[in-house]
Amino acid sequence: MADGIIDLEHLVKKFGKQTVLKDVNLAVMPQQIVGLIGPSGAGKSTVIKTALGMEVTDGGTATVFGQVMPKRPLLSRIGYMAQTDALYESLTGRENLKFFAQMKGLKKAALRESIDHVSHVVDLQDDLDKRVSGYSGGMMRRLSLSIALLGSPELLVLDEPTVGIDPALRRQIWQELDAIRDEGRSILITTHVMEEAELTDKVALLLGGKVIAFDEPAALKAQYQVDSIENVFLKAEGEFK
Ligand SMILES: Nc1ncnc2c1ncn2[C@@H]1O[C@H](COP(=O)(O)OP(=O)(O)OP(=O)(O)O)[C@@H](O)[C@H]1O
Ligand SMILES: [Mg+2]
Repeated sequence: MADGIIDLEHLVKKFGKQTVLKDVNLAVMPQQIVGLIGPSGAGKSTVIKTALGMEVTDGGTATVFGQVMPKRPLLSRIGYMAQTDALYESLTGRENLKFFAQMKGLKKAALRESIDHVSHVVDLQDDLDKRVSGYSGGMMRRLSLSIALLGSPELLVLDEPTVGIDPALRRQIWQELDAIRDEGRSILITTHVMEEAELTDKVALLLGGKVIAFDEPAALKAQYQVDSIENVFLKAEGEFK
């Protein structure tokens, strides 16, 4: 029975002759941060896109909030940050935030408060009136992340949110993610930063088109008899080859 916020069951996804996802099973429960890790090209972004109904599946089911995807109305309850920034570069950061906040149905005081809060989380409050075309890569990532956080969605799906972000700010962002989880919301996050994987409630390791390990960081380290998630990753990848 699917009772998670996200439930992926036997998900299959092909691109032409390439079967990227062979049999992916994964659940994100309420009040949980789940990290999705795996080598570049393993299919992490594809898992996310099929979960959200942005890619059509070739088998299995993706259920979000108990409903089989794709379901357009559900998207308003999800804060999604894509791996590639989709921003209006001729507009300022503030104008981008305002546009997406309005799309999410935020108005007046709530809109202003939400923009103020999310821009502080990513430390962009002093750059909001610059055009995005003049932003650095890291600033664009931060703006994309703040857009995903707008309106306090019940579910956050973040594809490599901390690329190009400095350690101090990364720590601040993780404090916010923890606070979001403690409020009862859920997060699915992909990352290449193994120290971040350590901070999740559960880690899913995607390899060969399947989630080959899915457990709490401490349990995974015990299972692989290593002292870090980085070494879990390396050992699993080594065994796989
Ligand atoms: N739209 C597409 N058309 C064809 N092939 C695709 C498409 N999207 C992804 N792929 C292929 O699927 C595989 C998985 O890609 P995906 O982007 O999901 O990997 P990833 O794990 O997110 O990698 P990274 O860590 O580099 O972001 C790759 O071989 C990629 O070339
Ligand atoms: Mg990716």
